[in-house]
Amino acid sequence: MSTPIPQPPGYPLLGNLTDIDPKSPFQSIKQLAQKYGEIFKLSTLGSDRYILCSERLAAEACNETRFVKGVSENLKQVRNGVGDGLFTAFHGEHNWELAHRTLVPAFGPLGITDMYDEMYDIATQLVSKWARTDPDEPIQVTEDYTRLTLDSIALCAMDKRFNSFYHEEMHPFVDAMTGFLRESGARSRKTRLELLLNQGPTRQYEKDIALMRSVAQEVIDKRRRTPTDKHDLLNAMLFGKDPKTGERLSDESVMNNMITFLIAGHETTSGLLGFTTYYLLKNPEALRKAQEEVDNVVGRGPVRFEHMSKLPYIEAILRESLRLSPTASAFSVTPKPGTTEPVLLGGEYLVPPNAILICWLPEIQRDRTVYGDDAEDFKPERMLSENFTKLPSASWKPFGNGARGCIGRPFAWQEAVLALALILQNFNLHMADPGYSLQIKQNLTIKPDNFYVKVSLRPGID
Ligand code: HEM
Repeated sequence: MSTPIPQPPGYPLLGNLTDIDPKSPFQSIKQLAQKYGEIFKLSTLGSDRYILCSERLAAEACNETRFVKGVSENLKQVRNGVGDGLFTAFHGEHNWELAHRTLVPAFGPLGITDMYDEMYDIATQLVSKWARTDPDEPIQVTEDYTRLTLDSIALCAMDKRFNSFYHEEMHPFVDAMTGFLRESGARSRKTRLELLLNQGPTRQYEKDIALMRSVAQEVIDKRRRTPTDKHDLLNAMLFGKDPKTGERLSDESVMNNMITFLIAGHETTSGLLGFTTYYLLKNPEALRKAQEEVDNVVGRGPVRFEHMSKLPYIEAILRESLRLSPTASAFSVTPKPGTTEPVLLGGEYLVPPNAILICWLPEIQRDRTVYGDDAEDFKPERMLSENFTKLPSASWKPFGNGARGCIGRPFAWQEAVLALALILQNFNLHMADPGYSLQIKQNLTIKPDNFYVKVSLRPGID
């Protein structure tokens, strides 16, 4: 006998469409998890999803001998812009295997070490901008973090300078990308009839896709016109060969992956820095310790590559921030192809052989059986390496799982440690509105919304 999987009652045809507030899925799922427990089912417009909210169920879902990546309805729409790029490829798609094997070395330790100077170049642009800002002027930090991360991935991976810190407005790529991701999400919740009757959003959607592709094409064309021997991602995409088959990526696959890297390579890390700044300002003792660590390890001189592995408290802060606010909030899996019988989860729940299981990280990473009664609190100490390595396998999964986990994780980590170290070395930070409490802006990823900070140069820094 299996345990029935609960589901909110919903409405005919619409199913559970109204149970999740698209502006605040965090809150909606938190309430549903409180009501229904570690697993529940949601049906919308004829498609069923099972939301997993506990570590023990996530640990099973992360077993790659039983489950593979599932491409959610939302990601299927994202394929309209980036096709079978790494992030959106279906399990087993040939172009994923080819691109994965060809591009993994670019993100290996050597590749990331080589990128340090360019990351530093962009991070110091943020520092220079903040140093010139009036200490009473509120800064929308999430925008500056987006400038930082977009410019870093573009420069390090493709030798392209967006120069976002030299413009008041964000680069048009950011607007097009935001519109594209928003509309991809909206389309996954629309019926075919709605899409047909209201063509306006589709036209804008197509324009946004065209703009992203033209930016990517410009970068590709420039590299073909003026080749370099830089060991960067773009050269790996254009000229690299699959070490297994000797094949090269097709032009279409290069384009899909270029846009994938520009999107996946900056949104999430920008959100990570935004949430980290928020948590530090709400937890002055953690902020003090972090600044002390930077002062002791780096002092007043330049932040160098060798410092990156010597800042354990900063790393613990970033891990704890990603635990409470995983900027990619969920990933989906589905039983392995060829599964024909219902699958038993947690020894008690039966799901269909083609079920989409959503690992909902904000709940999984707050599982009280793992993190205790203070799971809601920001406590970097629990993420110091000696504690972090003892955590159960699925209790911290902000970078996804296994073969389909994040290829850019080492890049994001180096970028975030460097940025945080530089910021803490140079500035004292204050909440612009001391009463601010966290609001979340959700697209494919999440960021703090309406979050403003004031910065002042630390005494002795000029
Ligand atoms: C995949 C999170 C930074 C590129 C993923 C996945 C997660 C994730 C959860 C798995 C998605 C799924 O299974 O559906 C994050 C977070 C980041 C980050 C939290 C920063 C804090 C980056 C960066 C890059 C990147 C900097 C590029 C330089 C990718 C790509 C994939 C991916 C290409 C698809 C991998 C595949 O399926 O082969 N990321 N990511 N990410 N990420 Fe990241």
